[in-house]
Amino acid sequence: MTVPELRAKKTRAEKITVVTAYDATFARMLDEAGIDVLLVGDSLGMVIQGLDSTLPVTVDEVIYHTRAVARGARRAHVVGDMPFMSYQISPEDALRNAGRFLAEGGAHAVKLEGGRAVAPAIRRIVEAGIPVMAHVGLTPQSVHAMGGFKVQGKNETDAARVLDDAHAVADAGAYAIVLEGIPTDLAARITREMPVPTIGIGAGPDCDGQVLVSYDLLGLTQDVRPKFVKRYEELYARGVEAARRYCEEVRTGAFPDAAHSFGVVKKDSETRPAEPPALRVVGGRSYGPDAE
Ligand code: KIV
Repeated sequence: MTVPELRAKKTRAEKITVVTAYDATFARMLDEAGIDVLLVGDSLGMVIQGLDSTLPVTVDEVIYHTRAVARGARRAHVVGDMPFMSYQISPEDALRNAGRFLAEGGAHAVKLEGGRAVAPAIRRIVEAGIPVMAHVGLTPQSVHAMGGFKVQGKNETDAARVLDDAHAVADAGAYAIVLEGIPTDLAARITREMPVPTIGIGAGPDCDGQVLVSYDLLGLTQDVRPKFVKRYEELYARGVEAARRYCEEVRTGAFPDAAHSFGVVKKDSETRPAEPPALRVVGGRSYGPDAE
């Protein structure tokens, strides 16, 4: 799945599926399910590291997880999320960090949060040949400026600001835009006006694609249950149940049984290696007996 293929999906009105991934096993599983884009989100700070915001996450940490996801992905497009303060200082600094996601992490693109204010950084990165996914509306790295994880664009003035941000990042060369936590009609309008795909999260059904945190989708997260999240499984509860059964079987001696053990020590005479098979020379090469 490439940038041109993702853009073509918008033209063909085919929805784009995006989820977060943080390791190779999840990447393989989600890729096999047909997910188009694996986003190595800085949400890993909350999901993997147990933090209460994404702010302490570092470039090195996201690159570490991106490398694992890139190894697990087969078809999916892999996007590395640029963490707090890795692109705000200057466009040159943003470019230097973005390059690391591709060179060291194996990502196909980077994502960064913000609108008009980060347009110069997006332009610089895109000019260097690195695709950028933008992210406007509720931008979690600005949690303190927003006064919490709050829906954005709820009144006309604020909606005009979010719309302007979307135009600014598209003009700067972003190939897709995440719209997070904004009213449905605003997301629909932005989607109509944008030449590039919009990917919604808490932005209603009219975006060109949708993104969810994989741990939310699979029911692995426990504490917060935002309204926009749909849990397609309850893996946390199923995991607790499976681990309980394991505890029970270890304690009672039911596990490991013979099927999960390596039997008994053999006599040396039973384990002596067989004579090496005679080689045949055919057409100048040597073949063992089972070559046919
Ligand atoms: O970090 C993340 O996981 C994200 C998505 C939820 C869009 O930015």
